[in-house]
Amino acid sequence: LRSVVVGCGSHLPATVVTNADLSERMETSDEWIVQRTGIRQRHIATPEETTSVLGAHAARAALDDAGLSGADIDLVICATSTPDNTFPSTATQIQAALGIETGFAFDQQAVCAGFVYAVATADSLLRTGAARRALVIGAETFSRIVDWEDRTTCVLFGDGAGAIVMEARDGEGTKADRGVLASRLRSDGRHRAKLYVDGGPGSTGTVGKLRMEGKEVFRFAVGSVTDVIADAFALSGTTADELNWFVPHQANRRIIEASADKLGIAREKVVLTVDRHGNTSAASIPLALDAARKDGRIREGDLVMIEAIGGGFTWGAAVIRW
Ligand code: ACO
Repeated sequence: LRSVVVGCGSHLPATVVTNADLSERMETSDEWIVQRTGIRQRHIATPEETTSVLGAHAARAALDDAGLSGADIDLVICATSTPDNTFPSTATQIQAALGIETGFAFDQQAVCAGFVYAVATADSLLRTGAARRALVIGAETFSRIVDWEDRTTCVLFGDGAGAIVMEARDGEGTKADRGVLASRLRSDGRHRAKLYVDGGPGSTGTVGKLRMEGKEVFRFAVGSVTDVIADAFALSGTTADELNWFVPHQANRRIIEASADKLGIAREKVVLTVDRHGNTSAASIPLALDAARKDGRIREGDLVMIEAIGGGFTWGAAVIRW
């Protein structure tokens, strides 16, 4: 069995906050933000637009794209670090919003690497026959956990959601066949202090705010994350030259371009949405996939690499024949 991507969709809150808007509220500038990160604007959720609301919109769009309905889905995974509540999981709330009453749903928490983790997990469950068709969603409202008094972090993030539908199909299992060809996940909890939220039920009892040592994250992202990419290429029997599209987590333009250069991936194969969306954590890859599908770049049969690093640290990569 192979897990084939049969649809994708996304959803962004209507409210757009530009760098100029931010510079009216704090000591920052469009020039500083663009030069350091490539970000020009981000979408910010209203109080009603919770993570499950954004996620359900993206999931519906992905189902429409696949020509399917909720009744066709027996697995829902939502990658998020900004759930509506500590429990129940956001995935179960999206399941209910879509009217899905069979199968199972759960959240996956690997911060910005969450979507890659969720794709790898769904792929395993589909290939073992535990489920037949999965909605894999990345949905976040980081605007609720950033410290709006801290200009070194708050300018970086945005809200949004993206989703894909994955389906178990028979295939010969060659690298030319559609589906997830290989994935590789890693984590190393010793890096906690570099990127974390300073709250939660086991600490302050409040939700807390995001804290980050930006330079340390940058160094790790460019220096160490390439291991999973090399492994995913080797496991799938593919190379950077064969790749049609590189769709990395959208944290920062400089991280993305430095990584692509190091890996020998041509700049024109890199899908960039960080300028429009900011860093939407687990939502950034499915948002970028959907943008590149809708504008005609990603086509059926293309070889696509997704890759991300997040708090923990967690990181991973997957090679998909679209
Ligand atoms: N506007 C204007 N000036 C600012 C701002 C701002 N928003 N933020 C910081 N500055 C100032 C600093 O105070 C500092 O001033 P000083 O020199 O007078 O002290 C100066 O700009 C330089 O600050 P640095 O922190 O050294 O800036 P740096 O070049 O390292 O860039 C950045 C900061 C953009 C955060 C960078 O380190 C980076 O991109 N890191 C990676 C972060 C990232 O992508 N994280 C997401 C990871 S994914 C996840 O899991 C969430």
